[in-house]
Amino acid sequence: ENTLKGKDLLTLLDLTTDEILELLDFAIELKEAYKKGVETPYLKGKTLAMIFEKPSTRTRVSFEAGMLQLGGNALYLNSHDLQLGRGETIADTAMVLSEYVDAIMIRTFEHEKIEELAKYASIPVINGLTEDYHPCQALADLLTIYEIKKTFKGSKLVYIGDGNNVSHSLMIGAAKVGLNCTVICPPEYKPKEQITEKAKEIAKYTNAKIEICHDSHTGVEGADFIYTDVWASMGQEKEQLKRAKVFMPYQVNSELVAKANNNYSFMHCLPAHRGEEVTAEVMDGPHSVVFEQAGNRLHVQKAVLKQILG
Ligand code: CP
Ligand code: NVA
Repeated sequence: ENTLKGKDLLTLLDLTTDEILELLDFAIELKEAYKKGVETPYLKGKTLAMIFEKPSTRTRVSFEAGMLQLGGNALYLNSHDLQLGRGETIADTAMVLSEYVDAIMIRTFEHEKIEELAKYASIPVINGLTEDYHPCQALADLLTIYEIKKTFKGSKLVYIGDGNNVSHSLMIGAAKVGLNCTVICPPEYKPKEQITEKAKEIAKYTNAKIEICHDSHTGVEGADFIYTDVWASMGQEKEQLKRAKVFMPYQVNSELVAKANNNYSFMHCLPAHRGEEVTAEVMDGPHSVVFEQAGNRLHVQKAVLKQILG
């Protein structure tokens, strides 16, 4: 039974553990079909509107290609070209788009904006990144980890860097599937307290260990996965220099990864900045799974689209 039909995906809090695990299994099936060239036209005649208030390579192309591979259509809508950019309200935009298309994906700034859109849209809304969350990324990350380990229990994911949207969604996702997750960050760039608490609360039910620490070297011990993201997210470009100084001790380099398990994997949501959050040696080294991880965006989002729209 499909419990996701007609639902929004604003954060991973919208999904149960079982729903996440079923999405991952379905994504693996869709991936196999795609690799074999087997067609999967589940969404014939369906249209996804994609609103972007920030740039994107992976999210845009994987959603657009994903809809086409499922037999549907996707519309790329740059917010500057929409009347939204000239002051039409989110609510009016939501109600108008609901007359034309079957679902909306949006990448925006404040998380409240997507909540507003979802409130007024009569069709499902999918989060393609807000300042607080990046749930589709975390689903692809979980898929990548699941493919490598075949399970979540007993593995340790270490996210090191800025306590941002990507770290928030990873903590929630890890908590939901029972994956241990340590976030290592400078004290002044911690994940939001309320989101950390939420993840810890969920983790009680799945026996996952969720922790925040500030010491890069002890935190990395026993890591099966080391994950990092940019130090300055989209919208924080002006803080780049200030942040680079604070974050340098948290760079993923050969000295840091030496503390991880021997067979660790390096992950990054991309785009990456070699020489900043990660050295080229690690990013392009034998432990890096970043391109498989990026590829998994396509498969997991196709699973989400089929379940929400199917
Ligand atoms: N990881 C990710 O969301 O990439 P884009 O910004 O290219 O969409
Ligand atoms: N934290 C980054 C992720 C980019 C995919 C940002 O928000 O810009």
